[in-house]
Amino acid sequence: MSLYAVVGNPVEHSRSPYIHQLFANQTEEAVDYCAVKVDPDSFDSFVKKFFDDGGAGLNVTVPFKEAAYRLTERHGPRAMLARSVNTLYLDDSGTLCGENTDGIGLVRDIQDNNSFPIQEKRVLLVGAGGAARGALAELVNHEPSSVILVNRTFSKAEQLKEEFGNFAPVEAFSYDNFEATEFDLIVNATSLGLTGNLPPLEKNVLAPGCCCYDMMYGTGGTGFVQWAKENGAALALDGIGMLVEQAAESFSIWRGKKPETGAVISLLREQS
Ligand code: ATR
Repeated sequence: MSLYAVVGNPVEHSRSPYIHQLFANQTEEAVDYCAVKVDPDSFDSFVKKFFDDGGAGLNVTVPFKEAAYRLTERHGPRAMLARSVNTLYLDDSGTLCGENTDGIGLVRDIQDNNSFPIQEKRVLLVGAGGAARGALAELVNHEPSSVILVNRTFSKAEQLKEEFGNFAPVEAFSYDNFEATEFDLIVNATSLGLTGNLPPLEKNVLAPGCCCYDMMYGTGGTGFVQWAKENGAALALDGIGMLVEQAAESFSIWRGKKPETGAVISLLREQS
């Protein structure tokens, strides 16, 4: 039996153990996966001990993704771009490797599960924290016609523009200097949903046929999904599909087998 875990704080409500157990059953892989809450100052020592004791892989969630990036000796391409890591494992020589599968999860859910190609789309990314970084690290690989970043703290949006501007046409704004135009894809990467709030966007940002995606999810949908539906979005999606797809990519890095995600997404939706 190979041991895996998701490490975070808080982590009690993580759906990852459930999702990975479904993947393990489906692929007939001998995987045991649990959730571990770690104090902020013991993350590094936890990771070292986990792998020293024979652990096979870790998922990393809030607030440790940047710490995991710093700890990682060999970065995958998306981890390198995002400067954050959500998947850790050892290679054959025992080197600690890290990749970020969040952006892949987001893009697969949008493009593959919901048949919405990103190429040539005008993208609005709301937020400029860790979630936005992970999203951008893969969004820029799909030739959007533009990516507009809008964030409460302008300097953070500008920083992302600096880092990602070589890979796609990226512009940065604060809510104050943002002049609303139409977008084809609007991704909410803020943590505002946690407090039941919405980003301050005018409804005229939705182009006809617009896809709105909330990277968060919650029982009964999210406020942003509700807002998108009320304002005529063609697609209004919460982050459950992304959650399952990022987990599938981690599983496939670890086990070399890509699980089938559709049934798992449906199951989680039924339960939310
Ligand atoms: P995560 O890892 O979930 O991205 P984060 O790095 O703390 O968490 O980023 C949270 C994002 O939500 C940021 O874009 C943050 O804006 P700031 O960069 O200005 O902090 C955004 N956010 C959180 N609370 C907000 C609020 N009340 N109004 C607007 N944006 C908010």
